[in-house]
Amino acid sequence: MALSIEEIDIEDYEKVIEAKDPDVGLHALIAIHDTTMGPSLGGCRIYPYTSREDALFDVLRLSRGMTYKSAVAEIGLGGGKSVIIADPKTQKTEALLRSFAKAVDSLDGQYICAEDMGTTLEDMSIIRSVTQWVAALPDLKSSGDPSRFTAWGCFRGVQAVAHTLWGACPVKDMLRERTIAIQGLGSVGAKLAEHLFWAGARLIVSDVDPVRAEGIAAQLGAQACTSEEILHVPCDILAPCAVGGVLNSESIQRLQCTAIAGAANNQLLHEEHGELLMEKGILYAPDFVINAGGIINVACELESEGYDPCLAREKVNTIYDTLLSVFEMSARRNLPTSQAADELARHKLHYGIGKRSTSVHLHH
Ligand code: NAI
Repeated sequence: MALSIEEIDIEDYEKVIEAKDPDVGLHALIAIHDTTMGPSLGGCRIYPYTSREDALFDVLRLSRGMTYKSAVAEIGLGGGKSVIIADPKTQKTEALLRSFAKAVDSLDGQYICAEDMGTTLEDMSIIRSVTQWVAALPDLKSSGDPSRFTAWGCFRGVQAVAHTLWGACPVKDMLRERTIAIQGLGSVGAKLAEHLFWAGARLIVSDVDPVRAEGIAAQLGAQACTSEEILHVPCDILAPCAVGGVLNSESIQRLQCTAIAGAANNQLLHEEHGELLMEKGILYAPDFVINAGGIINVACELESEGYDPCLAREKVNTIYDTLLSVFEMSARRNLPTSQAADELARHKLHYGIGKRSTSVHLHH
């Protein structure tokens, strides 16, 4: 039996497809939320979802998030995402990836796929052997590891928070002696910790892997604590860089920070938790604004002149100003910063600010 592709009608989404190929164990969902700004780009996540509904919920939520993230970053891309229901450790095969690639190809460039949880750059090469609609391949023309840029963007976001909270002071002193607590020391969190170290911050770090936390703490003169404690330690800025949903009714009551600025996606469990943070007087850097460095970097790969890391760096640096605008809008209109960021995204989408004017260039 060959690959079957069915379209699912979902309100407010441009196109959602379900692809199945039982011969190779493929069950995938691809969601294109919005292509107002350009073709959609988003990662392919392989995860053993317990139900089709869970997978559908995730792909819809993530693709919508990509629309907002890319719109605010003005990178001329729309929002899309794909999920494959499988255990990446035991069920990911070349045949499965090739079959998935055919589903991507059927979308004719309206969805460009990239690496995400459960997929690697090498998997992208396999997908590339079937379809051209893939970004961030393991070659020298590629934008490479996005986490470097995500971490740097986050660092610029932390600086924007510091500027807003503590006023103008020379950049080199902005974070000196400020206490910053980082949850999660993976690809992004560890690099962010390093940037903060050189900026003179006092660090508290945690990871579910205590050996990793202690190793990094020793290198950076930081204090290590458990992943339960980190959310509630007294600090100036909390940087969630691990999992989503960490800001919820229970955790927010116990926070002892002045601001939150970290890379994790979907930090607020529900939208109303943005309001709760505002009521508590905690300045929240909306996740999809502060963590856009990775997607900004990938988007640079699609420029006609090819990928240029210096251009990517300059674009990622704009996260600082974008966050200042979000904070300013939030203060002026008495809105939670999360809502101000959503409004900014909708405004840009409505007026096509940052919309792509040339087609994407795939240099592979
Ligand atoms: P990663 O998988 O490399 O690192 C995550 C780290 O968090 C791991 O070291 C893990 O042991 C730790 N961890 C997991 N649960 C934890 C907990 N409850 N408490 C403390 N530590 C915990 O992931 P990566 O790439 O560093 O991403 C981190 C977050 O940033 C994720 O939410 C991801 O979706 C988001 N993000 C990452 C981007 C990137 O460029 N890698 C881009 C945008 C967002």
